[in-house]
Amino acid sequence: MPEAAHAATAAHRGSGGSAGRRCAPRGPRAPSRSRGRAALAAAAARSTPFTRAPRSRELGLRRIVRQRRSAVDFDGKTELAFDDFARLLHATSHGPVAGLPWRPNVHLALFVHRVRGLAPGLYLHARDADERPLLQAACEKPFAWERVEMGAAGPELWRLAAGDQRATARALSCHQEIAADSAFSLGMLARFEPTLQEHGAWFYPRLFWECGAIGQSLYLEAEAAGVRATGIGCFFDEPVHAALGLASTRYRSLYHFTVGGPVEDGRLQTWPAYPARA
Ligand SMILES: Cc1cc2nc3c(=O)[nH]c(=O)nc-3n(C[C@H](O)[C@H](O)[C@H](O)COP(=O)(O)O)c2cc1C
Repeated sequence: MPEAAHAATAAHRGSGGSAGRRCAPRGPRAPSRSRGRAALAAAAARSTPFTRAPRSRELGLRRIVRQRRSAVDFDGKTELAFDDFARLLHATSHGPVAGLPWRPNVHLALFVHRVRGLAPGLYLHARDADERPLLQAACEKPFAWERVEMGAAGPELWRLAAGDQRATARALSCHQEIAADSAFSLGMLARFEPTLQEHGAWFYPRLFWECGAIGQSLYLEAEAAGVRATGIGCFFDEPVHAALGLASTRYRSLYHFTVGGPVEDGRLQTWPAYPARA
């Protein structure tokens, strides 16, 4: 997993900004006080300003890994092309994430806001198609469960309810705008109780590994599609379960995520990743 990309950023935050909601960035060691402002200014002069990822299939993996960042804000208008959306969904089960040595346990409840050709609404993607009927049976809400046409090789997608999901997504993710101003956000629903019974409690962190692997795949695919993503660790799990009608502990929400058109925060500075290896 390309977590090494985290080493690329030093963030300098102004006071009182909304970016305070983010976790502290894991960049290179900050300049010490003794090195002072001169060192900071010199580093800034060497830095490359943030540039939106070009929409190009030519983008190599190395570049994507090095330039990928979490979006701190989304523009509330960028639409994702349907093909890009399908590619992102596909990536949650292929590539590195498929290397996990167990059957997929984590499924996606999607709040679609701005995907061209796909009506806003609440959707479900079971990463293990055999699990979908069981998820449907566990949902105690009268959802529509309409299969979305995704093409022969496309990922399976089910529409649970049509309609604007922005307020719901925002509220469920601790009232963070990033869940509503994106193209789509999602909750990762783990097959929980049966999995822990089958494997034992030690498997609990493995469910988070799976969520993290899905998240990293989404980070990279979003970058390749010219948009950006952000992991959302702050969400209200019980209201998420209530919104989906999941009363039992068979499925539990473990992680949220959001993907869309990013808004640059001028207070953040990005330095070249591993410049010596460029
Ligand atoms: C597990 C996890 C949970 C996160 N939760 C949130 C969140 O609730 N809200 C938010 O704005 N960003 C969240 N982020 C994004 C982090 O703030 C971001 O990844 C971090 O600042 C590092 O920046 P980078 O991804 O650009 O390297 C989360 C990231 C991870 C990996």
